[in-house]
Amino acid sequence: MNRTDPLVLGIETSCDETGIGIVRGTTLLSNTIASSMDEHARYGGVVPEIAARAHLDELVPAINAAIAEAGIRLHDLDAIAVTCGPGLSGALMVGVGAAKALAVALDKPIYAVNHLVGHVGADLLHRSIPTSRTDTSDAVPLEYPTIALLVSGGHTSLLLVRDLVSDVELLGETIDDAAGEAFDKVARLLSLPYPGGPQIDRVAADGNPKAIRFPRGLSQPKDMAAHRYDFSFSGLKTSVARFVEQRQDAGEPVPTADVAASFREAVVDILLTKALAACADYGVPRLLLGGGVIANQRLRQIATERTDAAGIALRIPPLSLCTDNGAMIAALGAQLIMAGSEPSTLEFGADSTLPVDQIQV
Ligand code: KG4
Ligand code: ZN
Repeated sequence: MNRTDPLVLGIETSCDETGIGIVRGTTLLSNTIASSMDEHARYGGVVPEIAARAHLDELVPAINAAIAEAGIRLHDLDAIAVTCGPGLSGALMVGVGAAKALAVALDKPIYAVNHLVGHVGADLLHRSIPTSRTDTSDAVPLEYPTIALLVSGGHTSLLLVRDLVSDVELLGETIDDAAGEAFDKVARLLSLPYPGGPQIDRVAADGNPKAIRFPRGLSQPKDMAAHRYDFSFSGLKTSVARFVEQRQDAGEPVPTADVAASFREAVVDILLTKALAACADYGVPRLLLGGGVIANQRLRQIATERTDAAGIALRIPPLSLCTDNGAMIAALGAQLIMAGSEPSTLEFGADSTLPVDQIQV
């Protein structure tokens, strides 16, 4: 196996994106994503069985598209990497099964990796994308340690990454809804379609973020003692629901733009307050953002302002590598190979609650 510049195919099926990515070392060769998001729209959130079935339909076409785009043959690969957790069990199982089948059929090593750590690995690729496929001269290595804030429809996690392949610590996570889920649920309250994040962002542009003071979860002194880096969005969601109901019961119009802007402000504020507290507490002058919620305009703006003011370097991979994708999984697999890690044995399975410090299974 080529351990200096390994050619790796990554498979990601932990939620509703079927992602196949191919990398050579830190160079991105292809990133194919098929999403079943539209199929979940009428339910207002991801339906696990629908996601799993969509992965079954999409996997083989996605693999074919990825290898064609990368201009490689499957036999050229040095290894297969696959997300084995955390995520939706049935969805993960489809990717794990496919990865094992490919590894056995091609007689290639397999690396079973952690989805959340993969999000961090995405940052290793991003500076090399716009240039030619062979030129990695502008790829700036991820510096350690870094604090990573991962926010999507499935997770809200704050990590301390001392080394991508050997030392990742979970500082905190959501104790109820994920941030993206909160956006989706509040959008529903405001009669906006799924996925709610982009809709709230759009409507909030015309609203006043200070119009309504919604609660910032787990920010009171007593909560901070036990949950310094944890998040909670259910109280915020309930508060928005109550506000909307009161207006409706009183026969008054709901100020949708102000509600959206004020809700968005509360989410952005709590996410960044806790992330920057972690940077300060651990003396880490770097913050990496990942996950689909990073598309949020206000989050990007305030993150830039606050990290500038605090002298913290902010890294945001391009959106195609922030949302769930196979390239980040391939990138993490390649890092493990380059660091000399042995392949996974075929005994591993999907683990929906895989802890973040288990980088490889
Ligand atoms: O990472 P992602 O694509 O994957 C899953 O979690 O499956 O994240 C999707 C989530 C959804 O909850 C969506 O509402 C949210 O990211 N999202 C946003 C924005 N764009 C997508 N949330 C806030 N603002 C946005 N602009
Ligand atoms: Zn994710």
